[in-house]
Parts: sequence; C-alpha cells; structure tokens
Amino acid sequence: MKRLFLAALCIISLSCNNSSVTKPISETIQITPKPKNVKLESGVFSFDANTKIVAQTESEVLAAEILTEKFQKAATIKLEVIEQSPHSNVIQFKENTSLQAEAYHLIVSKDKVTIEYQDLRGAIYGVQTLLQLLPNAIENSSVAEQQNWSIPCVEIEDAPQFKWRGVMLDVSRHFFEKEYILKTIDRLSFLKMNTLHLHLVDDQGWRIEIKKYPKLTSVGGFRVDQEEKPWNARSKNSPEAEATYGGFYTQEDIKEMVAYAQKRGVTIVPEIEMPAHVSSAIAAYPELTCFNQKIGVPSGGVWPITDIFCPGKESTFEFLEDVLDEVLALFPSTYIHLGGDEATKTNWEKCPHCQQRIKTEGLTNVDELQSYFMSRMERYISKNNRKMIGWDEIIEGGIAPGATVMSWRGTKGGLEATVQGHDVIMTPTSHCYFDYYQGPQDVEPKAWGSYVPSSKVYQFNPIPKEMDSVQATHVLGGQANLWAEYIPTEAQSEYMFYPRLASMSEALWSTEGQKDWDDFSERLPNLFQRFEFMGINYAESVYTIQSSAKIDSVSKNIMVSLQNEIPSSDLRYVVNQDEISSASAEKYTKPIEIAETTKLKASRFVNNNPVGKVFEKEFVFHKAVGKSIRYKEKYSKSYQGVGDGTLVNVLRGSTHFHDGQWLAWLGSDMEAVIDLSESTTISKVTVGTLENQGSGIYFPTKVAVYLSEDGQSYALAKEIERPFKVNKESVLKTFECAFETKQARYVKVKVKNLAKAPNGGGSWLFVDEVVVE
Ligand code: ACM
Ligand code: ZN
Repeated sequence: MKRLFLAALCIISLSCNNSSVTKPISETIQITPKPKNVKLESGVFSFDANTKIVAQTESEVLAAEILTEKFQKAATIKLEVIEQSPHSNVIQFKENTSLQAEAYHLIVSKDKVTIEYQDLRGAIYGVQTLLQLLPNAIENSSVAEQQNWSIPCVEIEDAPQFKWRGVMLDVSRHFFEKEYILKTIDRLSFLKMNTLHLHLVDDQGWRIEIKKYPKLTSVGGFRVDQEEKPWNARSKNSPEAEATYGGFYTQEDIKEMVAYAQKRGVTIVPEIEMPAHVSSAIAAYPELTCFNQKIGVPSGGVWPITDIFCPGKESTFEFLEDVLDEVLALFPSTYIHLGGDEATKTNWEKCPHCQQRIKTEGLTNVDELQSYFMSRMERYISKNNRKMIGWDEIIEGGIAPGATVMSWRGTKGGLEATVQGHDVIMTPTSHCYFDYYQGPQDVEPKAWGSYVPSSKVYQFNPIPKEMDSVQATHVLGGQANLWAEYIPTEAQSEYMFYPRLASMSEALWSTEGQKDWDDFSERLPNLFQRFEFMGINYAESVYTIQSSAKIDSVSKNIMVSLQNEIPSSDLRYVVNQDEISSASAEKYTKPIEIAETTKLKASRFVNNNPVGKVFEKEFVFHKAVGKSIRYKEKYSKSYQGVGDGTLVNVLRGSTHFHDGQWLAWLGSDMEAVIDLSESTTISKVTVGTLENQGSGIYFPTKVAVYLSEDGQSYALAKEIERPFKVNKESVLKTFECAFETKQARYVKVKVKNLAKAPNGGGSWLFVDEVVVE
C-alpha cells in the first residue's frame, strides 16, 4: 500500500507547550497491521487532563476502558468517560451500521477524535489504532517520561481481510499461568487478532478443571518433573511415580479468562483433544482405553500415540459428553475444537468392543471408526448449537457433516474440505507453526526442527492458489500455532511469538495486494520499541545475518551473499580481520568473491555502529572446490542443496537440515566421483554428515575413499567404519579419511547409508561437503 507513504514525504510539526519536535510522518504513523486507507491532515490532537471520552453503548464503554487504562498508567492522565459530548477536546464514538464487521473509521481533527464502528471489535480496533498513533511510551506499565501525548490529524478507514485471525497456545506440554493468558489476550487485541485457541488437553497434561471427573486434573494435570532433560529423551513414568510438574485452570480461572477476552474483543476457543493426545486423561481414568491401560502422565514425547480412547465402549462417550457439558457451560464460543489428530489405532484393531462397534455400525475399518467417533461427537456439539472444529485428520474415513477443518498438514486437507462444502481455518506448518525455528538453528534457542522466519509468516495466504472463488468463501482465515514442547517459560513463549505474530496479524488483516514485506520491515524497529514498553521478550532474529554462496561458473571462486530479513539493513563486513568497526568494515553491496580460505565477519550497522550479534564464518577452501562431481545415484528431490556442486562449494550445512546445504539419500548409499581436472597430491578426504535420529537421519556406517589417475581403475586409499549408536541429539560429524600423500586426478567417495532405521523405516543419509586436502 504505497498511498500512505506518499504522505510520508511531508513533515508535520508535533508541538506541545514550549517543546517542539519535528519528525517525518513516516516515523510517527507506524500502525501494525497496516490500515487500509490513511489520509494525513495537518495539525495534531493533544491529550490532556481535560480530554473527555464520550461512551454510551456497552461497546463504547469497553473500548474506552482500554484507552483510559493506558493513559492512567503511562501518562497519569485520568481521561474522564462521560455520556454527553462537549464541543472539543473529546474522543467520541459513533455507531455506523454501514461498516462491515470489525471495521472502524477513525477521524482525528485538532479538537476532536471520532471512532465510527459497527461492533465491539470495530470500536476496540479504532482505539488500538489511536493508541498506535500515540508515542510508544503509552504502552508503559508504569509512568512514562514522555510528556507529549499528541497524535497527528488523520483519517483512517480500516477493515480486516479474514474473519478468523487466531493464535493457538499449547498449555499442556508446558503449563502457563492465567496471568500470561490475560497478557496474551491484550496483545492479541493490540494486533487486532480475534481468536485465542487454547489447547487444553494433550498427553502431557490435562489443564481444565472438570468437576465431575476430578482426577483429570489431580492426576492428569501433573507429571514427573523431567524438565532438565531434552523433550524426547524423557523416560516413561510409572503411574505411581511422584508427579510435581504441572497445573491447571480452575473453572473460576476459565470464567475470568473468558470474560476478560470478551471485553477485549477476543474469542477463546477451547480444544478438548480426542481420541488421541489424551494420555493425561487415561492416566486418570484407564477405563477410557480399549484394554484399561495403566500409564503415568508422560513427561516428554510420545510417539506413536497408541494409548487412546476406546470408541467401542459406550462409557467413553458418556464421559466425553459429561466433560463437554462443563466445557460448553464455560466457553460461549460458537466453535469448540475436538482435536482428532495423530491417532494410531492399533488397539482398536484388536479391541473386542471396537470390533463390535465396527460390526454394528456397518463400518469397514478403524479409519471409519474414527470418523464414527468424531461424527458422533460433532452431533453432540451441534445439538448444543455449537460448531465442531477438528484437525485435518477428521477428513479421513469421512468428515462429520457440520465440522470445520483446521488444516495443518499443508493446505491440502483444507482444500479438500472446501470441495465438500466445509469451512476451514488454514494453519499449515509451513507458515503457521511458531514452534519452528525463526532463525538459524545454531544461534537460536532449541526449537522444533523446521524453519519459519517472520518474512515467511508474512507471505502466508490462507487461500491457496488452487482454490476457486466458491471454495475461497469457505476459508474463515488462519492461525499461528505455538506448540510448547520446547517452550518451558513465558519468556520463551514471547520470544517465539513476537514479532512473528505481527507478521501473521498483517498477513490476515491485509489483502494480498496491500501486503508489502519491505514496508512492514521498516515498521519493525518501532514495533520492537513498543514491545519493550509492553515488557515483551521479543526475538531479533530478523536481523540475524545469514550467508549463501554460489560458485562463479567462470572464475570457480565462491560468491558469498549476506542477508538478513530486513532489506534496508546496513550490512558491513571484514575479511580475515578480528575486529569489525566502522573504520575497518566495508559496506556490503554485492556478493563477496572468495578465492582462498577466508574468515568473514559481518554485522548490521546502525548510526555507523555495529549492533547485534556478529556473523562469523570461515570458508575453508580445499582442492575439490568448484570441481566437477558426479553421483552414481541421484540425491533426493527433497534435499538437493544447490545442486550437484553442493558437496564441493565450501559451504557447510547446519543442524537445520533444510538450510539448502545438504544433499540426502533415502535408504541408499552415496557414491560420488570428483574430477580434480589434473593430477593432484592428496592426503586427506573428509565427509561432512549429520545425525538426527528423531527425523530419521543417521550417520553413515562406512566411508571409503578410492583414488584414480585415469578415472577407470581405482585403488582404495582409506576406509573407516562406524557402527550405529542410539543418539537423541541432532549433531554434525565429519568422517576424516587420512592417508599417506598420494597422487590422483579422480576421487571416488562411497558413503554407506544405515539403510534400515531401527524403527523399521528407511533411513536418511545427509552429506554437506567432501573436503579434499
Ligand atoms: C498437530 O500439529 N498435530 C495438529
Ligand atoms: Zn476399543
């Protein structure tokens, strides 16, 4: 949306009393998500102790409350809320039924601010935009030094693109106190997001008090404290072991959260998982399973999930309906999420109750039995005048008639559901999973294995290209999901949410045509300052410098590109120097050519000074760099790095195995021949590899190096073996084959894949470089 920033060229004067600050408008109007239309006028409206707010309807009173609270705290100005409008120095609301849902129209003139709205959210969003026009210090939770509480005269027309703009908080894998939920609600309202999906039930903890089944929380709410161990290295707990980690929300807590959210224009949608992800419930009531399995609440990863509810027993449904009765009484939301994901139904295959159910219901398999399960629950939800949501697995075996699908395994499930006329909410892992890394794995705190940076979140469009316009009407919107396996603290939760949530907010608020990452990224420093006033532990990963490199086809030298996510960043670098300063550094403007082993340091500069973490990388040249390399068996399409040259391009891969520096083979060995183009002395060949057993990636069991002068007859130079070992970490390892100096033109490297993973599946072999010295 360029229109707003045409106006950015003009200068306004923010004057107040005897202090006069002149700032470009581009620095004073920075609203996120970006409004649809902004028309700047000259002059300002100034808040003072005589400013009144006129609020008559309930919506107006609630919206006014947000404004008065901030002014009271940060500015110690008590804005009086009255019912009759004075002539000037007033904030007034005006109901306008011609506006669409959630829309607002904000008009700031020198003596008056008018907020037109159609519903509560519109009134609140008008206030949130007004707050974003004020100095960032208005978000301070204690008295701010800022004295100049003025806003530019402006007219803003604004409305959202999608009606579901959500966030999912997983409070099961780690428990978050009610106060954090309340804070999150405020932040959602600030970003004009309207839905908080609370994932209240999962294997590792049941987090909502159900009065009829007290053991759900007294037993299911707590687990053995194994917090010091990595999530997937935590051992199985016996039902008798002392459980001390956990917590839950009482029904009073829930009522408070729901009421607070309602006042802020946020709907809380509860998720009660079924039939899987319920080990916590099973630990409390083993009779809910096929074979009365007695388990302890797991402290870490559970996979595959076989301890699940038994749909053969009528008592399972009685239990679930009882639970839902209490849930429905607490949450007024139209939608109730019933999970439905990742059930491994092997027990259902063997269970006499389940088999009987399959027979009496005329079903053909356990997928259809899951469909029966979810459809039956959907009928219960519908009967209570609500709508059921399920993860996209609910399509398998037949989707329940009234169900809405939350598509997470890409957008395919969502697409299919819209073909069948169902509503969908898009939350594909590719853009919406905030438990994934937002920066390079080697500098980020531990997260789930994949990569979803802010700029990628920003590109999210809940309507996939394949969708026609009729299907698109079924897309309610999108949502960010923060699974909490690796989120033990509120600080870490904030770190993973911000600023990605701002990216998500704008991705869902703006139309595709209005979205502009460059423009958004220019607003981030201001947003960061606001986050600081809000006390948010936001991430600065957007500034992290990363390199990519290509081999120049003529010179065979390495061309190293540097970038972070902010296109306007002032990046500077030094080559083979220890210090980086404004005196020593060169401005990065084009790829850096490297022809020999080189140490590169780079930093972002602000006001001529280096800021943030210094990027450091050594590019170690060797004799095979840029040489021709051929593979006996082609690498997988899923991991093709930068093509054939990936293994001789100097650049090393990281444990983030999607980083584009890896070639990988599934189940088969790697065999490559490098042509050094002339007879060369060689004494060592090193193969770089990765192991991440959780993702099916294993170290090779053998590496062998053969040399040849003619490319026909090869002699073994060295071979090393390494037997399989269990390893719960993700680690890089080099296999060094050193030998007495030899002469050769061709180097053949055979790297043996473990081939069969211990769990029976195919194993991946990952290689990032073959270093010839
Ligand atoms: C999911 O991520 N299992 C919905
Ligand atoms: Zn059963």
